[in-house]
Amino acid sequence: MSYNKAPSITAETINPRVKIFSYAPCGEILKHAERLEQEMEENPGSLPFQEIIYCNLGNPQVLGQPPLTFFREVLSLCDNPTLLNRDETCALFSPYSIRRARRIINKIPNKDTGGYTDSQGIKWLRQVVADGITGRDGFPSNADDIFLTDGASSAINLMMQILIRSHEDGILSPLPEYPLYSASIILNGGTMVPYNLTEDNGWGLEIFEVKRCLEEARSAGLTVRAMVVINPGNPTGQVLSITNQEEIVEFCRKEGLVILADEVYQENIYAENKKFNSFKKVARSLGYDENDLSLVSFNSVSMSYGESGRRGGYMEVTGLAADVKYQMCKVASLTICPNIAGQILISLAMDPPKLGDESFELFDDEKEKIRLSFWKRAKTLEKAFSSMEGVSCNKLEGALYLFPRLHLPSAAIRAAESKGVSPDTFYAHRLLDATGIAVVPGSGFHQESGSIHIRCTILPDEGKIASMIPRLCAFHKAFMNEFRGSQQRMHDLRR
Ligand SMILES: Cc1ncc(COP(=O)(O)O)c(C=O)c1O
Repeated sequence: MSYNKAPSITAETINPRVKIFSYAPCGEILKHAERLEQEMEENPGSLPFQEIIYCNLGNPQVLGQPPLTFFREVLSLCDNPTLLNRDETCALFSPYSIRRARRIINKIPNKDTGGYTDSQGIKWLRQVVADGITGRDGFPSNADDIFLTDGASSAINLMMQILIRSHEDGILSPLPEYPLYSASIILNGGTMVPYNLTEDNGWGLEIFEVKRCLEEARSAGLTVRAMVVINPGNPTGQVLSITNQEEIVEFCRKEGLVILADEVYQENIYAENKKFNSFKKVARSLGYDENDLSLVSFNSVSMSYGESGRRGGYMEVTGLAADVKYQMCKVASLTICPNIAGQILISLAMDPPKLGDESFELFDDEKEKIRLSFWKRAKTLEKAFSSMEGVSCNKLEGALYLFPRLHLPSAAIRAAESKGVSPDTFYAHRLLDATGIAVVPGSGFHQESGSIHIRCTILPDEGKIASMIPRLCAFHKAFMNEFRGSQQRMHDLRR
């Protein structure tokens, strides 16, 4: 008897959808930066810089953001409940954190953070989240509508699993996009229906453009089921005006679309004239309730609170029928339950210490310091990019990224083409090799074709940002000169 020894599973035979999507924040630039880091370790002094500055990562604590004391105190006490009965604990932890940890641990099955929980999340923590939403919006929220999740990503993917039946189901999604959306739409077998944000209008969302895309998709035979809105935006940093949000609500209601409101940057708002308004609040303020509109909103502790590795998040599901929610619980139960540290953290984020609580001042001070520092870093980077020849930079209103547009000489574009890469990838690679500064090419966010951008996070600390700016500007000048020079030379040769 002969056996076929060739492996039956190869990259050619795996699920083709897996091969189609890409996820730029963890893409080639990150891998190259890691290779360079290893090179620096093995051969110190071999590269023209001393360290890699990871402006490609939306990963606050890896880039130096300190955790909030209140969060960590409660988490450690919940994980070590015997400390709650020790005298020295009162000297080490704030009384408020001790009280909160005691309340939480009493609500966890068997008072231990190591067990499985309800697939939707511990009911009492869901109630805390729901109460937090009620306090934030001034409209009631219900614990049964809350799904605690491992970050917003797993919630978004769960929604795609629920909404997408076949390739003929479309999901309206913004461009430039956070690439989780196209990836999860592709993986779940649906079709992304992109709508463009308008760069010249501060990356605003124009409802006529969304309408145009919806109509085009419908006439191509697609059933469009939902519209994704990211507010504040990644990678584009805009905060939607309330009027704009109202238009979106009216539009989705009229067209029968579920709003998928990605609100993970709700605490990262810097522009003085801008304020976060949840889509739930906007819809309820317009007088629309569950019977008028289906709305799912996502939030997490990753960006607003910097605890991205803890994987704490929730989605609030309103306007979907009870039997749909039953099916959602069934899907959620496939991963048994969200992790408990994440469940606790998102409850703390939605019910932080209030004025008068012992932990309030420190919590507020730590949080505000981080926010102000982000604002300062954003301004410094914005100014640097705007001072560079051929670069225009958006004004950051919220979130954690700048998305400057590059107008590169045509010789640079041709050089990129000759290497088989996009111009932004070419630029980002050259920047990394010359300066150690890692950014994400805009093509990873599916920017409008013909435009060239890079995404640069504001997360490295103020010192690092100050130190990288001269290198960034010098690199850009040399890059432009190099290609303007060759363009000029070719021009001269042709004459
Ligand atoms: C717009 C947006 N949505 C969702 C996520 C995922 O967040 P989480 O870590 O909560 O899964 C991110 C992370 O960068 C994001 O930028």
